[in-house]
Amino acid sequence: MQERLNVAVQKKGRLFDGSLELLKAGGISINNGKDQLKASSHNFPLDVLYLRNSDIPQYVVDGVADLGVVGENLLVENDADVEVIEKLGFSKCRLSIALPKEAPYNDISDLKGKKIATSYPVTLQKFLRERNIEAEIHVISGSVEIAPNIGLSDAICDLVSSGSTLFKNGLVEKEVILKSQAVLVKNKHLSKDKEALIEQVAFRIRTTLKARKSKYILLNAPKDKVQEISDLLPVLKAPTVLPLALEGWCSIHSVIEEDKFWEVIDQLKAAGAEGILIVPIEKIVV
Ligand code: PRP
Repeated sequence: MQERLNVAVQKKGRLFDGSLELLKAGGISINNGKDQLKASSHNFPLDVLYLRNSDIPQYVVDGVADLGVVGENLLVENDADVEVIEKLGFSKCRLSIALPKEAPYNDISDLKGKKIATSYPVTLQKFLRERNIEAEIHVISGSVEIAPNIGLSDAICDLVSSGSTLFKNGLVEKEVILKSQAVLVKNKHLSKDKEALIEQVAFRIRTTLKARKSKYILLNAPKDKVQEISDLLPVLKAPTVLPLALEGWCSIHSVIEEDKFWEVIDQLKAAGAEGILIVPIEKIVV
């Protein structure tokens, strides 16, 4: 019988959509039933286990799940002995210490003797110890941002994404402990068959992630500017150059990372590029 992979994914919360979108974009269809805790793919030997976020690292360490999609911050907090296969580029956030906006704060020494509420005691303790700060850590499992308002703590240490939860609770971010994003992790002791399947999944995910970052660029240029413009474009191999139905002009096609495009746009125009089109790419296989 063919091996199947178990992938642990957050049951609900901010990693859920991104995890399933990535599998779907890689051509792996999951049949989701409402309130199902396990779902199977009919077109790839893979089952999805919907679990509590905080349980995922241990499930992967124990081999209950072969793969997991989890925030890097949880791997650090659990000191999880798993292998990171790929950073997935979504659910970007940071673990930060924040204080009420009226609280005086010059530097980290102002945290000495303070009570800090958090769901991430291990990471916070390590951060404070490395800086010789003795503080009282108060562990709570959720709604951490309310702690100073109800007199439970002087400060908090929690995940910050947009910053709106801090703002709504009158808190200001003072120290960033770590930056995090969703990552794909695997158990370290898998069979060869499972490793081969994971390689296929990882390839599909990399292909999708690469395409998400890149755009297809088409532009028109005078023929004598082709070299100058090509030199500005970071290309896969070499740009495609096609003649236009207009004497002395051609069309140049290439692939460019979106960030790079904004860096070179002015130079492209100065070099004579016209009618520049930027088009999304579905997949890139190199
Ligand atoms: C996280 C975190 C903060 C909030 C920050 O909670 O605990 O409360 O997001 O996000 P923001 O900076 O965009 O406002 P989440 O909603 O993921 O749920 P949780 O309480 O289960 O961690």
